[in-house]
Amino acid sequence: MRLAPFASVLFGAVAIYAAVPAHTSPTLKEAFRDDFLIGAAVNRRQFFEDDLRGVPLIKAQFNSITPENILKWEFVHALPGRYNFDAPDRYVAFGETNHMTIIGHTLVWHERTPKWVFQNEDGTRVDRETLLRRMHDHIQTVVGRYQGRIKGWDVVNEALNEDGTLRQSPWMKIIGEDYIAKAFEYAHEADPKADLHYNDYSLEKEPKRNGAIALLQKLKARGVPVTGVGLQGHMKMDWPTPEEEDATIAAFAKLGLKVMITELDIDVVPATQKNRTADIAQNAQPHAESNAYADGLPQAVQQALAKRYADLFAVFLKHREVVNRVTFWGVTDGDSWLNFRARVNHPLLFDRSGQPKPAFDAVIRSAAQGAHATETKP
Ligand code: XIL
Repeated sequence: MRLAPFASVLFGAVAIYAAVPAHTSPTLKEAFRDDFLIGAAVNRRQFFEDDLRGVPLIKAQFNSITPENILKWEFVHALPGRYNFDAPDRYVAFGETNHMTIIGHTLVWHERTPKWVFQNEDGTRVDRETLLRRMHDHIQTVVGRYQGRIKGWDVVNEALNEDGTLRQSPWMKIIGEDYIAKAFEYAHEADPKADLHYNDYSLEKEPKRNGAIALLQKLKARGVPVTGVGLQGHMKMDWPTPEEEDATIAAFAKLGLKVMITELDIDVVPATQKNRTADIAQNAQPHAESNAYADGLPQAVQQALAKRYADLFAVFLKHREVVNRVTFWGVTDGDSWLNFRARVNHPLLFDRSGQPKPAFDAVIRSAAQGAHATETKP
């Protein structure tokens, strides 16, 4: 059994998403074929085709993939001068075999980068020239290897603080703020045709959004080859509002940039004070928290999540001229990074057994409504 579109029964304004046989439902990639790509972050077991539950879903539902971890510096380049491309090669081959748009994630980030990158052999901090050379070698080697095959790269990830100022990462401290421009220039040099993105979370919050706008404006004014902005889209049930999402996409579109939702998921487990953002350092801190839905998601929350997804997709569809991809951060709920520290989370469209949830049905319905809205334009 799975949940099909158009099978919902309307009781007033409340849509009840009913279970009907599988074959009646279009897939996500079909439903949004004329709007944007539908992507998923995939893990190693998936592109090695060991995950027998996830792989058929990925092939059927998605036309773009992002590697959840294996292209991060510490995985692909754990030791100086030693690259390991076994997993990345399999990832890219999986995407090509299945005719998908293949994304690279990520080149320059303060997380998941080994300490040696920023140190001399004696443990002292490297100078600017050395770090720029290491950054150049890394980007040249990794982007160059997949030139023409990886379509778009998250070049710089999470360079901003919540208040919109530049994060004091080792990149920033050692190189200075032009590390961002340099990363884009090196990526462009390695693959002149690739799309190059700035990617970050919580850009829906105004101070951070304004910081990103100022940064991207400056980069564009200087001719730095940035082509798009990735809104990670790690969302809550009550944040961001559809209005905030709408204003955020519109603001970046005005800069002449493509906009992508790059890591979409909706954290349904009630938050503690400490894990309100996608900051992976915060989320790794142990602290007491609720695990409210350890035994499954109650129907009412299931329906609320479906409505939440429908509301967000209505916004993405409104901006389909500039939004060229919506990527989920995982395939089934069991894959999600939001299950950190034994929380049982339910943030995606497919449940732990790979069955589509009411949210899946709601997203498919939003596509039909979006198409209808376009057709009826004067
Ligand atoms: C996460 C992965 O999902 C986890 O498996 C890993 O342990 C930590 O990183 N923002 C990003 C992603 O850009 O790379 C992060 O992915 C989630 C937050």
